[in-house]
Amino acid sequence: MREGNPVGEWINAQSFNDPRGSLKVFEAGKEIPFDIRRIYYLSNVPSDQKRGGHAHRTLHQVFVAISGSFTVLLDDGKTEKIIKLGPQSQSLYVGPMLWRELYDFSPDGVCLCLASNLYEEADYIRDYSSFLKSMGSTKAVT
Ligand code: TYD
Repeated sequence: MREGNPVGEWINAQSFNDPRGSLKVFEAGKEIPFDIRRIYYLSNVPSDQKRGGHAHRTLHQVFVAISGSFTVLLDDGKTEKIIKLGPQSQSLYVGPMLWRELYDFSPDGVCLCLASNLYEEADYIRDYSSFLKSMGSTKAVT
């Protein structure tokens, strides 16, 4: 999941820690490899619920665990990665054409999403079989 691997990449925020606490910063074009056009966040996600369950055709995103923890599954049609985000982790860059699921939120889990474009339903692929077809994958849907 380091450089060169298409299924997710860690983003390291600059961190300023002093006796007053911690300050973390992301800047577009520096740590974030795109211009940020939208932010949203997921919170109060029950531990038995799943978010995501789709891929984006063109959107670039970074997921930040600003509180608590949660798990991200990334799938490029061939390889699946399961990645835990939490207080000790860096943030996760997710490029276009990756199926993602977010789950296993802790009660205080908050996922901040930085996105390269405005909300556009046409950018979503919400059907897993269609996603696999777009990726030319021969993986069987279970
Ligand atoms: P949904 O895509 O189901 O969220 P998730 O990615 O967590 O599974 O979106 C939930 C609702 O919120 C849906 O009605 C679309 C709406 N929405 C917006 O209006 N703007 C946004 O930026 C996002 C991410 C969702």
